[in-house]
Amino acid sequence: MQTRLQKMLSEQRHLADLGLAVSKINHDMRNVLASAQLLSDRLLQVKDASVQAFAPKLLKALDRAVSYTEGVLAYGRAQEAPPARRMLRLRQLVDEVHGLLDIGDGIDFENGVDAGFEVDADSEQLFRVLTNLSRNAVQAMAADTEGAVVRRLVISAERTGGVCQILVMDTGPGLPPKARENLFLAFRGSARSGGTGLGLAIAHELVRAHGGKLELLESIGGRTVFSVSIPDQPVSLDRARRGLRRSA
Ligand SMILES: Nc1ncnc2c1ncn2[C@@H]1O[C@H](COP(=O)(O)OP(=O)(O)OP(=O)(O)O)[C@@H](O)[C@H]1O
Ligand SMILES: [Mg+2]
Repeated sequence: MQTRLQKMLSEQRHLADLGLAVSKINHDMRNVLASAQLLSDRLLQVKDASVQAFAPKLLKALDRAVSYTEGVLAYGRAQEAPPARRMLRLRQLVDEVHGLLDIGDGIDFENGVDAGFEVDADSEQLFRVLTNLSRNAVQAMAADTEGAVVRRLVISAERTGGVCQILVMDTGPGLPPKARENLFLAFRGSARSGGTGLGLAIAHELVRAHGGKLELLESIGGRTVFSVSIPDQPVSLDRARRGLRRSA
């Protein structure tokens, strides 16, 4: 009886693991699809007859995929793949984040990262972290109905010794209490309609997997700042010795 119960519990845990893994992939897949939708929208303006024939079908397929990903959500616990880290040019990555962001008229985006700035990170995962933070900022600013306010999103970075600090700053209304009280908790912190409350939880987990920290530094009306700190990977003593021997 006990063994049977244990087996059942372990199966349930496994299913829960699978559930959150699906939710997380699903969440960021929706972001990728939304970007594809944005680019495909432009195809409708192309006069070529064959493009006119296939573009609506492409858009319809993307619409279906987006609503499918929005509908599929499940609970559980799971780990992301460990980061595959390389030295990256952050300015270029931030340009890519900007390029795929659904940023409406009236919101300025500023890439404040120096051209030579390097960060030791998994490029796909850091892209997801910055995309989630930027999307939240854009959504919060777009929902701000006051006409005269300045809407600006700035990403900047600085290095202190072996640690990179990336700042994502916006001039939106700040986090509502529900979001602050459940900061980084999956499914719990969403305070906007249509939100799943996974973006910050995913970003938090991805940064932690780099041995780093995601923090909310400031959030008052008119200024919200998230900080992503990522330490360089420690140099393995063995690898360094092997490298020295080879070059001797
Ligand atoms: N820069 C920001 N300015 C104001 N509110 C924010 C900001 N970033 C996050 N929030 C608040 O935190 C909540 C949680 O964000 P999170 O990204 O985890 O979920 P979400 O955006 O609601 O849904 P999704 O899973 O689609 O990202 C948001 O609903 C929003 O209310
Ligand atoms: Mg979000």
